[in-house]
Amino acid sequence: MSGILEVSGEWLALREPEDADARSRDLALAAAAMLPEGPIVVHDLGSGTGSMMRWLAPLLPGPQTWILHDWNADLIERATDGVRPLDRHNAAISVYPQTGNLANLRATDLAGASLVTASALLDVLTSRDISAIVDACVGARCPALLALSVTGDVRLTPRDGLDAAVEHAFNAHQLREADGRRQLGRYGAPIARGLFSQAGWHVRPGTTVWRLDHRRPRLLSEWFYGWVDAAVEQDPGLRAEAKRYRQLRTSQIERGELAAQVSHVDLLAWPR
Ligand SMILES: C[S@@+](CC[C@H](N)C(=O)[O-])C[C@H]1O[C@@H](n2cnc3c(N)ncnc32)[C@H](O)[C@@H]1O
Repeated sequence: MSGILEVSGEWLALREPEDADARSRDLALAAAAMLPEGPIVVHDLGSGTGSMMRWLAPLLPGPQTWILHDWNADLIERATDGVRPLDRHNAAISVYPQTGNLANLRATDLAGASLVTASALLDVLTSRDISAIVDACVGARCPALLALSVTGDVRLTPRDGLDAAVEHAFNAHQLREADGRRQLGRYGAPIARGLFSQAGWHVRPGTTVWRLDHRRPRLLSEWFYGWVDAAVEQDPGLRAEAKRYRQLRTSQIERGELAAQVSHVDLLAWPR
């Protein structure tokens, strides 16, 4: 895979508890209700180190087999080597790695799948990747639970005059072309939703929000500095004001006074 887009296992570990709090349990339980009796096979796309599996497996019946798809073999290895979650009946699940680019996913790769899942994925994909995923799910007639795609909406408390400009520049930065790929950023989820609808599928969205504050100060600060740095890279005109902004927000984080709501959306798609 390409270096610039590489996701670190440390970042995935840092965000995992907040992701678990934010994902829609309602949609997960609705997906669980669609599963057939007996053994189930779940394909998690862009699995990283397996955060979605650790969250969802205990909500689903067993016996369960998970196939973890990612183009980063090192991240999948952490999931397959790590502690395995138990299913709803406290039985161990089976996990297998599948390394490759999701742009090449086909319906045959999902043959026999009971459910496709993903988390924090759609916003980092290209339109080609998303088309391939939707076509593969539709071809395999397999429901899909696609969690935690960013919507681009951020609300910081207390407010500051620079918030909107940083939000705007960050959202533009997400759409940049990097390593020959143009990521869809906040358009990823609406595009996936539109493609499923076009195929005649039902799609149910759920609003999901990261609520960052003094309870997870490291995640709040890592997220915040990444957000501002990307915005300044996108719009160097923000550089001078961003210095004051960073100092202000740093002192608010240190005093436990800063809170951020980072909006996401979960989608559950299934055939009519
Ligand atoms: C933001 S991370 C989320 C990982 C994991 N789902 C989680 O929630 O912790 C996105 C993951 O998708 C993978 N990924 C991105 N684009 C991909 C592609 N086109 N093919 C395969 N994997 C991809 C990355 O390697 C990374 O592990």
